[in-house]
Amino acid sequence: MQKCSRACSLWRPLTSGLFPQVSKRLGNDFHKRNIASLSALSETHQMLQKTCRDFAEGELKPHAARFDKEHLYPGEQIKKMGELGLMAIATPEDLGGSGLDYLAYSIALEEISRGCASAGVIMSVNNSLYLGPILGWGTDSQKQEYVAPFTNGSKIGCFALSEPGNGSDAGAASTTAKLENDKWKVNGTKCWITNGFESEASVVFATTDKSLKHKGISAFIIPKPYKGLELGKKEDKLGIRASSTCSLIYEDCYIPKENILGAPGSGFKIAMMTLDAGRIGIASQALGIAQASLDVAIEYASKRIAFGKPIMKLQMIQQKLADMSLQLESARLLTWRAAWLKDNKKPYTKEAAMAKLAASEAATFASHQCIQVLGGMGYVSDMPAERHYRDARITEIYEGTSEIQKLVIAGQLIKEYGL
Ligand code: CAA
Repeated sequence: MQKCSRACSLWRPLTSGLFPQVSKRLGNDFHKRNIASLSALSETHQMLQKTCRDFAEGELKPHAARFDKEHLYPGEQIKKMGELGLMAIATPEDLGGSGLDYLAYSIALEEISRGCASAGVIMSVNNSLYLGPILGWGTDSQKQEYVAPFTNGSKIGCFALSEPGNGSDAGAASTTAKLENDKWKVNGTKCWITNGFESEASVVFATTDKSLKHKGISAFIIPKPYKGLELGKKEDKLGIRASSTCSLIYEDCYIPKENILGAPGSGFKIAMMTLDAGRIGIASQALGIAQASLDVAIEYASKRIAFGKPIMKLQMIQQKLADMSLQLESARLLTWRAAWLKDNKKPYTKEAAMAKLAASEAATFASHQCIQVLGGMGYVSDMPAERHYRDARITEIYEGTSEIQKLVIAGQLIKEYGL
């Protein structure tokens, strides 16, 4: 566990001040379940979990359906999450972050996503995909300019890797960056960019030498708005509808020479290593969706009467709840293991891919079964089950599809066996 003075000083007064009122207002301590499983966590992690759980119950869950329906960016909530230190959890305190570890990040992200999966992905992209590579490869002045102002929720960043012609094949970037009169001239279109609409800076991958294939890709930091950068339309998505997704179109966009991030040609490795960490974030988001689905299913099953008793007493329903819980808790252990390995500076590429694969499948499974438990009520938007089902689906796609996670896992196994 890294030092956490800012975080602790923030969370102590909050847990004893604001949040009890929020809980009282809710008049429902259903969300407090699962406390037994907390005992293995450190005091700081438990405190963070409780704070995030209370915040999600009081400030996210009551609004999540409206945000989803109206495709509304939860700006006010993201600002509050920034004030709680959640938008830069593993960023050092001297740069404005909370100075916590990746286990803390995973725990917090799960709780936030349990309340609103869109807020979860906005938080995940800012923490892992935007701040992560700048912290890892940025110069001091890049960190001052592009990290510090993006830690408190007032500004968010994004990560621009995918293109219309390359998604899974990340090395096939066709966006170009050419050095002209001491400036990089960037041309190309990046698509499926989470946070693209609201972001005020982006880590962008472009090829500086196409003949070198992935070794010719470099990373850049490009602020927004910026001359030569246009936004494409906001995508109308199946789920996570309160987070924006759009294209970023660069046309003769001249950026300062010093906006390159890391060494020229190191962009592909930066992208891959950033995604390793990002996958822990998406796994945690998926855990939150799976947990929210289980919560809804159990609450409904305890109240809904059929065949003369709450359906919770029916073995067929119990089997579903047991299967949901098993997948969720197995995936949580994989996710925490990946975070723990990262925190302890051990290799974690395979473990992060396993975590994302297992957690996204758990979210899809749990949200599907949740609808099944609720029956007709699961299919209408009066209940959150259908939103969880729609939100879960993307976790099997972004930051590497499930198929790509299997390739990554197999690739690491082949290496481990020295084949
Ligand atoms: N860490 C460090 N280095 C890595 C690495 C990792 N995790 N993975 C690969 N590399 C290195 C390799 O060691 C190799 O290095 P050398 O050239 O020095 O030998 C180099 O990168 C190329 O590796 P591969 O041959 O394995 O690369 P590949 O072209 O076959 O691709 C891939 C591998 C796993 C399929 C990769 O392209 C990939 O992960 N694709 C998915 C991309 C992805 O996740 N996209 C999501 C977009 S972002 C998003 O969704 C954002 C959002 O808004 C939410």
